[in-house]
Amino acid sequence: MHSNTRSRRSTILGLLAAGALLGAAMPALAQSVVNVYTNREPGLYSATLDEFTKATGIKVNALFSEQGLAERIKAEGANSPADVLITVDIGRLQEAVDLGITQPIRSEGLAANIPAPYRDPDGRWFALSLRARAVYAAKDRVQQDDITYEDLADPKWKGKICTRSFQHQYNLALTAAMLVKHGEAETEAWLRGVKANLAKKPSGGDRDVAKDIAAGVCDIGLGNQYYIGLMANGSPEQKKWVEAVKVILPTFRNGGTHVNVSGAVVAQHAPNRDNAVKLLEFMTSSDAQRVFADVNYEYPVRPGIPVNQLVASFGPLNPDPMPVSDVARHRAKASELIDKVGFDR
Ligand SMILES: [Fe+2]
Repeated sequence: MHSNTRSRRSTILGLLAAGALLGAAMPALAQSVVNVYTNREPGLYSATLDEFTKATGIKVNALFSEQGLAERIKAEGANSPADVLITVDIGRLQEAVDLGITQPIRSEGLAANIPAPYRDPDGRWFALSLRARAVYAAKDRVQQDDITYEDLADPKWKGKICTRSFQHQYNLALTAAMLVKHGEAETEAWLRGVKANLAKKPSGGDRDVAKDIAAGVCDIGLGNQYYIGLMANGSPEQKKWVEAVKVILPTFRNGGTHVNVSGAVVAQHAPNRDNAVKLLEFMTSSDAQRVFADVNYEYPVRPGIPVNQLVASFGPLNPDPMPVSDVARHRAKASELIDKVGFDR
């Protein structure tokens, strides 16, 4: 009995050492855990993860890193402690699928919580929240309160548009959606038209679009809706940028605002697969959806959940019903066209 205890203890120590080697304080031996890799801000999900532990007794180990997590899971191979990878943008989710680090998940709970356009038909990724590709417009210089994405190519905006690189995930996804809607020739013409309207070479991020509008460099530009909330709670400088702009939720000319996703995959070698699925089901529960849509000014992926008040002030979102997996399939072609027209040059 005594020696039994001792040998068990050394096994435990061995496991702890192995866990330490894998890094990031991921204990390999706790009975009910789920290991989450994420490149989202740690604060974003912490309340939800705490609630999950309270509700289920499953401990969450979160490893945060700004980049390289999918590659890290790939490199860790069959020994990877990762159960779930949480990231933003369909591009990153698709990249995880393409790296072969995901496994298909069938869950009635996830199918019920997440509308079909926002999960992979083969169950390899699931959206947790939505973000709209919005237009920021100068309050004092732009009269109209609605616009289509196609309109951004109208010569009436000549010298008036600012944007970040079109090779950035957010604009790539928008261009891919345009390809699905209108095909290659019209998308190329659209890109040329928008480029011809630029006030300056594409640069910076979405926040810089608001900054440039506030500075009078341009009148309108593309930006995700949540940056408005983040800037409104940011530095005094950023608050001034927000005050100068209004947010328009554009639609394609046949309706629908382009949305992208934040989402999650279950890792191919997830040591705690069932807990991983439970976590994703929890994160798409009504309570969790309410909380983190509010924290990051995103749209809940689950229908019928109220959005943050500031986000609600942008008007009702009518998301394009295009399956996000269609967007994923057209990203490479979109990137090629953006290059072809020299959009970022
Ligand atoms: Fe972002």
